[in-house]
Amino acid sequence: PTLTIAAVVLAYLIGSLSFAVIVSRVMGLTDPRSYGSGNPGATNVLRSGNKAAAALTLLLDLLKGLIPVLAVMLLGEPWNLRENTAALVGLAAFAGHVWPVFFKFKGGKGVATAAGVLLGLNWALGLATLGVWIVVVYFTRYSSLAALLAAVAAPALHIVGWGASGATLSIVVMSALLVWRHSANIGKLLAGTESKLGQKAGGAA
Ligand code: G3P
Repeated sequence: PTLTIAAVVLAYLIGSLSFAVIVSRVMGLTDPRSYGSGNPGATNVLRSGNKAAAALTLLLDLLKGLIPVLAVMLLGEPWNLRENTAALVGLAAFAGHVWPVFFKFKGGKGVATAAGVLLGLNWALGLATLGVWIVVVYFTRYSSLAALLAAVAAPALHIVGWGASGATLSIVVMSALLVWRHSANIGKLLAGTESKLGQKAGGAA
């Protein structure tokens, strides 16, 4: 258990690196918490118009979910740490993104980090979930709607494809938190005022 706790704490700290804020700061761009949705995430960084910054945010936020999970999956065997522990560690990284200790506990919505966690846990599940996101974005251009539908799909796909396990519980909690973090987006989607992917901050609605 000591090793599991250490892995969970370390993953939480890594997850707490809010890359939307860090990348923007390093690249000399405006803080993403001050424009658009105010969310420190790749979708909102894209509203600045800087595609490279958005892509880098997406990549780094995804890697901070992927790396801790993969580390447990690949190196945990000798200590009897397997999928369930890896999923818990992934949930910790996700929680770090949502409530980052380095940024006054005000983080993002967890989409990229959750994608990384799923890819590390089970690449086929991760790709299938990513597939849902891509298809929804392709047809609707709503990043938030795609994330919401992918979040609902992930636990369902896990249960149908691989059977319910301890890891499913972590995935369910992650999805539930992700949906809750999108409350404002759900309101805007229902009101028809949600902005589409790539629409600039302050641009024509
Ligand atoms: O990555 C989060 C996305 O699903 C929604 O972000 O900025 O449109 O609230 P945003």
